[in-house]
Amino acid sequence: MKEDGVILEVSGVSKIYDRKWVALRDLNFHVRRGEFVLLVGSCGAGKTTLMRLITREESATAGTIRVAGEDVSTMDRRDIFRLRRKLGLVFQDGKLLKDRTTFENIAFALKVTGARKKEISKKVMRALTMVGLAHKSSCLPGQLSAGEQQRVVIARALANKPILLLADEPTGNLDSEVSSGILDLFGKINRFGTAILLATHDANLAKGFPHRRIELVDGQIS
Ligand SMILES: Nc1ncnc2c1ncn2[C@@H]1O[C@H](COP(=O)(O)OP(=O)(O)OP(=O)(O)O)[C@@H](O)[C@H]1O
Ligand SMILES: [Mg+2]
Repeated sequence: MKEDGVILEVSGVSKIYDRKWVALRDLNFHVRRGEFVLLVGSCGAGKTTLMRLITREESATAGTIRVAGEDVSTMDRRDIFRLRRKLGLVFQDGKLLKDRTTFENIAFALKVTGARKKEISKKVMRALTMVGLAHKSSCLPGQLSAGEQQRVVIARALANKPILLLADEPTGNLDSEVSSGILDLFGKINRFGTAILLATHDANLAKGFPHRRIELVDGQIS
């Protein structure tokens, strides 16, 4: 961690797909330790693209992204693996394994990142307690409501104590009441000290949000 507590630094970042589709243009912002930043923008504004640049699923066309001081653009495969272990990801394609229990889903994710066997159970239950689902640890995803399933996805992202939680449309398929519960949960996670960057196109969700907002319009911060 850098002295100034900057966890994520985005400097002059642009992304052009296939040499013609400009998805992001000259973005500059940072996220500090313990901050909760909402990234708002309508469909196609570039939110998911930005998330994918941070995790290095895509490379920026120009500019620099640093996570905990490390430039992600110069990372090799091992560095990228280490980078992703530092991040908690709540992405739309990050569904639960249908044939594994709540507990096993989280334990599996921890195992993949090389967590020690002895610690896995403790970490799983701590994360489930945080999202209020410790009592559903032996349920299969099909036995959980959509909102509960999303809480398990969030617990899975939290289990490894990430330095930054990246959430891309975490309330995407949920109705508004369940969505506001999920947003409250992120607020609680943040109060426990985890920095969060949360992307949404839902202007209603963003209403009354007490933390910093970054607004993307056509790939630019407005
Ligand atoms: N792999 C790709 N190849 C070409 N263009 C892409 C690719 N991925 C995204 N884009 C384009 O980049 C722009 C930003 O897309 P992105 O998915 O980042 O938006 P978004 O803000 O996440 O939108 P949504 O709210 O719909 O999820 C869009 O114009 C999209 O068509
Ligand atoms: Mg998106």
